[in-house]
Amino acid sequence: MRSSPGPFSSSSSSSSSSSSSSSSSSCDAPSSCFCGSHWGRKPRSGASWLQSSGRMMQYSPCPVAERSHWDATLRVPTGDFHAVLRDDEAALDWLSALRRVGVVHLKGAGPEPGAVARLAERIGYLRLTFYGPTWQVQDKPLANNVAYTSGKISLHTDYPALHAAPGVQFLHCISSAEEGGESEMVDGFHAAERLRRDDPEAFGTLASVQVDFTDMGTDYCDFLLQAKKSVIEVDAEGRVLRINFNNATRDSVLDLPVDRVQPFYRALRAFVDVLSRPENTVTYGLAPGDVLTFDNWRLLHSRRPYRSRPGQPRHLEGVYLDWDEVMSRLRILRQSVRGNA
Ligand SMILES: [Fe+2]
Repeated sequence: MRSSPGPFSSSSSSSSSSSSSSSSSSCDAPSSCFCGSHWGRKPRSGASWLQSSGRMMQYSPCPVAERSHWDATLRVPTGDFHAVLRDDEAALDWLSALRRVGVVHLKGAGPEPGAVARLAERIGYLRLTFYGPTWQVQDKPLANNVAYTSGKISLHTDYPALHAAPGVQFLHCISSAEEGGESEMVDGFHAAERLRRDDPEAFGTLASVQVDFTDMGTDYCDFLLQAKKSVIEVDAEGRVLRINFNNATRDSVLDLPVDRVQPFYRALRAFVDVLSRPENTVTYGLAPGDVLTFDNWRLLHSRRPYRSRPGQPRHLEGVYLDWDEVMSRLRILRQSVRGNA
């Protein structure tokens, strides 16, 4: 049997004997050689090589630091769609605000489909899901999602039925409604911190009890999703990392010990009360050419029912990305524009 080559090979094949014969002091392999014959050699340049070649900068962690929480007084940061595509400084401002505030409104994209894919390519690549690479939010017959109706959508985060819910979402308005269709958004991190302050028991319950989310149907392909998550996810230091809140996909089966059922619903009600306060809610409308970019781990969003113009249905195009890709582009832009990470 032929062994695979590489540093762990103990083969006596010709490549091994060749390596053995080349392990003399005359070898001029670079210090990064991994042929197996040069291991244990004293590094030629020692600490000076490590210092010159190593990563000396401390990159910022993703994505829990540097957040500024907000309420109804928020003035949504704005940017120009074409500027962020062509200009690194504008793109840096956009992604920095997206990370810090959680929402940025880009204007001037025009009404043609494809804008959200171009924004995703500006960052790196989009996140494919069961709703396709991009998805069309329209009133559709036999809708497989409440978003694809003209009805009201209550506050939610997208896709908690995925264990790794998309971190970022872009929504481009191609055609607006004749009446209604406005959205509301709430800073879930701000609301969670209010709950922690005012009702720590409820916060602790939502951060520890895991409930099921489910989604099924056919779109890009058929799917049957199931995920178990806490409504408020915290990291090892107790900082809020992600909100998982979607009554349309929270499973009708509550898989909890009976003595935890009432505390869970009480805690969920307390959180909903905080989320629903007018003092925490920002209402906004999108006009054709507007792109709303937001943090899907953090923002909860809703939609009022609407009526389309005759012969011109309301139409939004959406795309998902993940925070790793967005933070990667943000670090690169920081380096290129400001010379640091
Ligand atoms: Fe949504």
